[in-house]
Amino acid sequence: MINIEQPSSSWKDYELIDCGDFSKLERFGSCVTIRPEPKALWHKTLTDDKWRQMANVEFKPGAGFGKAGKEDSGTWTTIHPTPEQWVIRYPQVDFKLRLGLTSFKHVGVFPEQATNWDFIHSTVKDLCARQSQPPKVLNLFAYTGAASLAALRGGAEVTHLDSVRNVVTWARTNMELSGMDGIRWIVEDALKFARREVRRGNLYQGIILDPPAYGHGPDGERWKLDECLFEILSLCNRILAPHDSFLVLNLYSNGYSAVLAETLARSAFGSDGELVAGESVLCDRFGKKLPLSVFARLKR
Ligand SMILES: C[S@@+](CC[C@H](N)C(=O)[O-])C[C@H]1O[C@@H](n2cnc3c(N)ncnc32)[C@H](O)[C@@H]1O
Repeated sequence: MINIEQPSSSWKDYELIDCGDFSKLERFGSCVTIRPEPKALWHKTLTDDKWRQMANVEFKPGAGFGKAGKEDSGTWTTIHPTPEQWVIRYPQVDFKLRLGLTSFKHVGVFPEQATNWDFIHSTVKDLCARQSQPPKVLNLFAYTGAASLAALRGGAEVTHLDSVRNVVTWARTNMELSGMDGIRWIVEDALKFARREVRRGNLYQGIILDPPAYGHGPDGERWKLDECLFEILSLCNRILAPHDSFLVLNLYSNGYSAVLAETLARSAFGSDGELVAGESVLCDRFGKKLPLSVFARLKR
């Protein structure tokens, strides 16, 4: 079965206000942004004037926009002044995220991921209730760490890996802001790390992956989703405990479908366990659903 999921409307610090004409109008706490959105193929509901009245900042794509590796590059223009950095809360799991305007269109959170955070938090809590040791959770391609914080808040021992040092520092700030500690931070190529963990025979009870279409390890190792995804999933199968364990695979690029995520997970992890696949969407004030990623979640 393919599920369609969206963040709870009780999350007051995020809202997709409107989307259309290849853009989206969103509110992150008190800051309203206009950003490009290639999937918003329909027309906006509100007028351009209304968008500009509401928005603090707008992201303008740069020359490299849309090209491999520079898909999201550009600059922000201010419409109504806003602080360069600010903080939002995710009360469902109880963590905070510092946000900021990056040169890559992003602000430091992918809100459509909220239902994955809820799943990670509740699954870790269930594992903790059934065993005396905290479950070990590995977050690959972990970015600013929302999924790591969800696992940590649930009681896991968390390893957070990303190839970009600044992003790992940002994730550490988010942990500290949330009043938590104890995450193991790793700046490394995800594939290289997974191969090494297989050789070491290390096992995790939870693995989370949200890989990009293209990326680089810290030593220039090339990550290309189509070519590397099945290998990393097969490695994850070998470092994921055979029982009392979970996997969250999220895919937001290359137009991959939920059925593809499901088939990939079944092929890499076998037929044991309960597998749920679906689409993560954001729904705007007018009921228009914007699909942003697909996921497969396995419990075995
Ligand atoms: C879009 S983010 C994932 C979003 C994140 N899971 C979340 O919801 O907050 C993709 C991340 O992969 C990282 N990355 C790219 N190539 C990598 C590689 N070869 N090894 C490890 N991390 C990589 C990037 O630095 C980026 O932080």
